[in-house]
Amino acid sequence: MKILLTGGTGYIGSHTYAELCAAGHDAVIVDNFCNSSPVVLERLEKITGKPVAFHEADVCDEKAMDAIFAQHGFDAIIHFAGYKAVGESVEKPLAYYRNNLDSALTLCETMKKHGVKRIVFSSSATVYSPECVPPLAEGMARGGCVNPYAWTKFMIEQILTDTAAANPGWSVALLRYFNPIGAHKSGTIGEDPVGIPNNLMPFITQVASGVRDKLNVFGDDYPTPDGTCIRDYIHVVDLAKGHVAACDYLMAHRGVEAINLGTGTGYSVFDVIRAFESATGIQIPYEVVGRRAGDLPVSYSDPSKAKKLLGWTAGKTLDDMCRDSWRWQSQNPKGYR
Ligand code: NAD
Ligand code: UFG
Repeated sequence: MKILLTGGTGYIGSHTYAELCAAGHDAVIVDNFCNSSPVVLERLEKITGKPVAFHEADVCDEKAMDAIFAQHGFDAIIHFAGYKAVGESVEKPLAYYRNNLDSALTLCETMKKHGVKRIVFSSSATVYSPECVPPLAEGMARGGCVNPYAWTKFMIEQILTDTAAANPGWSVALLRYFNPIGAHKSGTIGEDPVGIPNNLMPFITQVASGVRDKLNVFGDDYPTPDGTCIRDYIHVVDLAKGHVAACDYLMAHRGVEAINLGTGTGYSVFDVIRAFESATGIQIPYEVVGRRAGDLPVSYSDPSKAKKLLGWTAGKTLDDMCRDSWRWQSQNPKGYR
């Protein structure tokens, strides 16, 4: 299959590129490097042993996208491109609505023009209503989102659903990711946040490497067994394999499916700290501070639909996730810089 990865030099896109190549697919990347580095391309060439078919362009640029689609006959698209920082989306909502919605709309219009009918979209567990009681299943209520980033995911799910309804030949997979962490086993590609990391694992690995003094644990007074929030952490390579399975699924099915990509198991912040310490032998100094606005006490998936439809389940453990995150961080203390 020939597959276009928008945002393919980012954290999840780069791992998915490697898995698509390993599965024998022909992958093409478009990215504007607004949150990634050209160095990723060199790393992917080393991992896959072949040059990367790459276009530097903004997915919102209609003319550029038209030219890329005219050059390649794509069987499917995986749409990763978008801004993803929750806190930043609260400060700059217009930038988030503009980039995330505009890129999705431009992509759909270009697909329609060129007769491409299959798309996998990077959605998020954050589309579920905060009222839902975990395990979160695809049929549960969505909406009531607590930040603009989450609303962009909610809205793009709707745009794709309406587009598929109006164009019966379309196949759409709305993949709702839980909490991706970890890195490729080579330690050459991984998550490379700019500035102070917002997310738990990159913060822990920076504490481990001495870039930061200690981890702030955002609250230990939640209604959970140890008082810290519970999340469904999933290894990014498992997540990437879920995309390969989704592309195969779209070849044989029409219509729209929302599918969770998670492990189905929740771990607390203290569980993750302990798992990291035992996987790496490095102590993580931490301090419990106040709650972070917008954090849900508990979020984890019901992953049974992915198993049923895609034949996919996550295979890697929290220990694997911690070890692989640390390998990436220790081999690349400054990320791709
Ligand atoms: P990332 O920022 O590492 O990757 C996104 C890539 O898209 C970057 O390389 C960036 O340069 C590119 N990009 C952004 N806007 C673009 C545009 N207009 N044109 C071209 N390229 C553009 O993020 P990621 O962690 O790999 O996430 C990928 C997708 O998955 C995003 O849509 C994100 O919202 C979604 N997602 C991520 C998580 C997570 O925890 N990482 C969880 C749920 C959903
Ligand atoms: N946490 C800390 N200290 C930190 C960072 C995080 O204690 O320095 C805690 C948070 O309070 C939360 C847990 O660690 O309890 C996980 O936080 P993350 O920021 O790593 O992940 P979130 O669940 O908040 O959000 C992530 C992505 C979102 C995505 C969501 C669901 O950042 O983009 O998963 O997919 F929408």
